[in-house]
Amino acid sequence: MPILNRAAEMQEEVTGWRRHLHKTPELNFDVFQTAGFVADKLKSFGCDEVVTGLGRTGVVGIIRGRKGDGATIGLRADMDALPIDEITGKPWASTVRGKMHACGHDGHTAMLLGAAKYLAETRNFTGAVAVIFQPAEEGGGGGNEMVKDGMMERFGIEKVFGMHNMPGLPVGQFAIKPGPIMAATAEFTITVKGRGGHAAMPHGTIDPIVIASQLVGALQTIASRSTDPVEAVVVSVTKFHAGDAYNVIPESAEIAGTVRTLRKEVAKRSEERIRALSAGLAAAFGATIEVDYDANYPVTFNHAEETVFAGDVAADVAGDGHVHRAIQPLMGGEDFSYMLEARPGAFIFIGNGDSAGLHHPAYDFNDEVIPHGMSYWVKLAETALAA
Ligand code: NI
Repeated sequence: MPILNRAAEMQEEVTGWRRHLHKTPELNFDVFQTAGFVADKLKSFGCDEVVTGLGRTGVVGIIRGRKGDGATIGLRADMDALPIDEITGKPWASTVRGKMHACGHDGHTAMLLGAAKYLAETRNFTGAVAVIFQPAEEGGGGGNEMVKDGMMERFGIEKVFGMHNMPGLPVGQFAIKPGPIMAATAEFTITVKGRGGHAAMPHGTIDPIVIASQLVGALQTIASRSTDPVEAVVVSVTKFHAGDAYNVIPESAEIAGTVRTLRKEVAKRSEERIRALSAGLAAAFGATIEVDYDANYPVTFNHAEETVFAGDVAADVAGDGHVHRAIQPLMGGEDFSYMLEARPGAFIFIGNGDSAGLHHPAYDFNDEVIPHGMSYWVKLAETALAA
């Protein structure tokens, strides 16, 4: 089965929804208009239940099949945008300064709405489909909030599936892998407190800039000397703030950054090394170093059986040669990880074609992807819930 005819027919309508959402981006949990738009659409499609306010601003629509009792599966899209100034100049560009859909969540939401409309029209399955629209994927943990709100139990969701677009992968192609597909993320802030003083009399100071600089170098050894070379780990220092004058050695310096890993043991070891290197340098220089370490999203871990199933569904839609089933994991984080910790399932990438990269101000979701993504969702639901 290639693309569904009905999905192709609906492309213009779904594109309209996508561009509307693109014009009106909202951040984090504050996706009130977007969630309202989603809930109104789901009601207009005749969903059996539409529940809002899950995990603060998440929305779930329940569509029951007409072929009798069966399992409930969850299909998930994300609704939030990013704090970026859009530069696409397109007619549907963001109308809100400093906010844009630079990760394609507008497209994810529109495609899942399209699939919901189709599934509510046809209901050619047993059991039920839960269409899940989550807020705050970009760092706020909205998916986690929905899980903590009891979403899985409340709707009896047995399996969950997620999808994200991927620039550079041709339109009509999919990519997936079993096991870890996206990284666990953590953020750290390290404050080096020394003793400030005159820049011309450095021997009377404890220079936090020199110590923090050494620490930045030492942190590179977590990947190069503390971790098995076949394991994946990223330790990036992304902020370094200290000082205000040419002739003053400041009292303190602050560095901050992110850690990305694919296995719990490596994540734990990386945190331990950050703390040990900081303590060691503090002792060596007579400074105090405080480490604030926040583990954020866990690894997005694709379950074996559901990954094969999702790959087969994608192959059914796209053709066997267009599904890459053994890609390298990506070191970005993904909030869908919490749903995959709660229930078995799989996360798949769908090609966005030759577009700007995710989180880039020139990025735009490719509307040509819509019938492919809709067909994947519909086919996945109808196959998983076949009589
Ligand atoms: Ni995203």
